[in-house]
Amino acid sequence: MRRWLLPATSELARLDLHAGLAVADLGAGVGFHAEALLQLLGPGGSLLLVDPDRENLELVPNHYRENPRVRILIGSAAHLPTVPTASQDRVLLSLTLCCLVDKEGVLGESWRILRPGGLVLATFPRARRRPNRRRPLRMTRDRWRALEKILPWEVLSVRSSFWIHRHLLRKPTTG
Ligand SMILES: C[S@@+](CC[C@H](N)C(=O)[O-])C[C@H]1O[C@@H](n2cnc3c(N)ncnc32)[C@H](O)[C@@H]1O
Repeated sequence: MRRWLLPATSELARLDLHAGLAVADLGAGVGFHAEALLQLLGPGGSLLLVDPDRENLELVPNHYRENPRVRILIGSAAHLPTVPTASQDRVLLSLTLCCLVDKEGVLGESWRILRPGGLVLATFPRARRRPNRRRPLRMTRDRWRALEKILPWEVLSVRSSFWIHRHLLRKPTTG
């Protein structure tokens, strides 16, 4: 169902990926995007998978663990002390912000680890109208607007779909 509704390759097409880039997939889950990312990044690229849920990361296929281009970190993306500042070209937050409380922290760390000119693609499902018991986690367009204003991101145009909101931000090269 997921592969049909939100295929990895079409989501990633929005991130202007090419060979040799360093990409951080924050809230990587079971590594849904990993295979497509590695193919796009080629032998010179690198992939960082971060998730606090050990059980999710254990489902990431073993061959990634043996791949020197892949680093897997168990922990919150709101605190990545072992990831150097300005070390990543792209950050993927696919359906991640809707699953965590510290959204400001994760977007702040995304800013820190991105190189100037780097891009972040954030997606989250369209909020349901009925009351949601997990309210602190919920992402809405208003919540996103407040989040993207915290730091001086350049907001780029990207299409949302019937299922999800997509947002593409660039860390400015100057300022
Ligand atoms: C709905 S899943 C999305 C997984 C994957 N990005 C995808 O598109 O298939 C959300 C993921 O966010 C992770 N998550 C929750 N809190 C997090 C945090 N503080 N930092 C990073 N990831 C977190 C969850 O463990 C879960 O794997």
